[in-house]
Amino acid sequence: MARLPVAACIVALHLCLLLLPSSSLRRLSEAESSLVQHGGGSRPAYHFLPAKNWQNDPNGPMYHNGVYHLFYQYNPLGATWGSGNLSWGHSVSRDLVNWAALNTALDPTAPFDNNGCWSGSATILPGGIPALMYTGRIDAGKEAQVQNVAFPKNLADPLLREWVKPAYNPVISLPADVPGDRFRDPTTAWVGHDSLWRIAVAAKVGGPSGIASTLIYRSKDFRHWKRNTLPLYTSRAAGMVECPDLFPVAEPGVEEGRLGYTPGMASGVVRHVLKLSVMNTTEDYYMVGSYDDAADTFVPELDNERSLDDCRTWRRFDYGHVYASKSFFDVRKNRRVLWAWATESDNMDDDIAKGWSGVQTVPRKVWLDGDGKQLRQWPIEEIETLRSKQVVGLLGAQVNAGGVNKIFGAGAQVDVEAIFEIPYLEDAETLEPNWQLDPQKLCEEKSASVSGGVGPFGLLVMASGDLQEHTAVFFRVFRHNQNYKVLMCTDLTRSNGRDKIYKPPYGGFVDIDIEQHRKSISLRTLIDHSVVESFGGGGRTCITARVYPEHAENNNSHVFVFNNGTGVVKVSRLEAWRMARATVNVVHGR
Ligand code: FRU
Repeated sequence: MARLPVAACIVALHLCLLLLPSSSLRRLSEAESSLVQHGGGSRPAYHFLPAKNWQNDPNGPMYHNGVYHLFYQYNPLGATWGSGNLSWGHSVSRDLVNWAALNTALDPTAPFDNNGCWSGSATILPGGIPALMYTGRIDAGKEAQVQNVAFPKNLADPLLREWVKPAYNPVISLPADVPGDRFRDPTTAWVGHDSLWRIAVAAKVGGPSGIASTLIYRSKDFRHWKRNTLPLYTSRAAGMVECPDLFPVAEPGVEEGRLGYTPGMASGVVRHVLKLSVMNTTEDYYMVGSYDDAADTFVPELDNERSLDDCRTWRRFDYGHVYASKSFFDVRKNRRVLWAWATESDNMDDDIAKGWSGVQTVPRKVWLDGDGKQLRQWPIEEIETLRSKQVVGLLGAQVNAGGVNKIFGAGAQVDVEAIFEIPYLEDAETLEPNWQLDPQKLCEEKSASVSGGVGPFGLLVMASGDLQEHTAVFFRVFRHNQNYKVLMCTDLTRSNGRDKIYKPPYGGFVDIDIEQHRKSISLRTLIDHSVVESFGGGGRTCITARVYPEHAENNNSHVFVFNNGTGVVKVSRLEAWRMARATVNVVHGR
């Protein structure tokens, strides 16, 4: 299988970069910048993506001996998925923002993975030995998915550039009650009360119309694995699930640092989160609950608005265009960090023409909100090192009904933080009960151009100067059961005028008591050419969208604040920074 063509001198340069303090990794010289591949106005400048070709899921993130590693599903042969070619791309970083590309870590070359090295996770074993556990796809007339391990060839190599797959693979064969194409994506391993290792693997149990299950396997030596009778979790409602992630979150008020990083640890001060990527909808859902260490099962806690049988009521990491998220516990900063794959929304011909497809969200810190019910996410603080020029704000300004105010000097690489204050909440329209289940539909019916009582108000980003093209990220407040309910949407209707671009409405409710929050709601949006990644209500609701406006090719994008409600909205905070280009898998000399 072909490898990422990275010349030795390039690796040497990256090695030097890694040995420098992280601050000196940050910016490219002008001469270097001119060598960066741009791939047109849609190529992001500070989100993670390989130099070229296809990427999908983030795999095996880990921190080892001072270096962060991110692996990812990668097709070395082109800008489309190519199921049988999938390799593990491999990049390293000191700060999770600037990345150096290495050769692929795993390629589909062995009898136990000859049709693709699919997703998986990393575990640091005692003695600091990293182990990768991944799905091998075998094609021997009929597809079979199995689970394999790989270890670094040379532990003394600070970058762990080469990985060895022991000949004793697969360590877990396809079970008899699981179809060949429905058994994959092992989690990071953890140790249970009986001192045995555990991993969870997604499977459809009981034939093609079987039950979406997350199976648990246990092992003494990381080589011989035995399946538990009881799965960690099953759901009839979800169809096949992929890429499970199980992790502890500290109870509100408890230091994350006490957590450790495996699900079994520190019980008493933690709850647990189970994330499942639901294949039918390609959406990531999570539940907060508890992992029962003795039974090896996950018990969700659902509030009365949610139902186990209807995954539309489960919470989502992101109500936009992301899938197959993966987190790891960052021991360097005692925090959980999550990435998710933000797929392209243009079409395959566009991807082939631009030579790349797939971006990761910015790394996000994840924690349990003070309400104990939901997660919050926020771009890791290192992202702020890219903030360069602060552009003029509208601090304290009122945006009147129908008002549109420009943030001067913003552009296509921007980090905007705003707080909107609503003086007249009582003007909010009433929420119809049948709207509650489908915020996405509600965002479609009540798009940015439909005036309401309170809202829509928010940002117009990646906008042409004449506003013919723009993407609206906004809130709308509804009256609901003597209280208020906030809807957050990203509206792509006017993001560009082209056909064959996927432009669905995106939306989720923000679980926040707006009256108790000084009648205000915050919005942070990271704009990076084709990526519009938004964090509403302090990261309670996130929406990532991909946009391809025509004007972006001329580097002429703007940001506006707007209010299309009938009452005024006050902007009590507005800060925006132009973002520098990060060094992300740059290949020089092309
Ligand atoms: C999720 C997924 C995984 C699989 C991988 C293959 O996007 O389908 O289940 O391991 O992608 O690329």
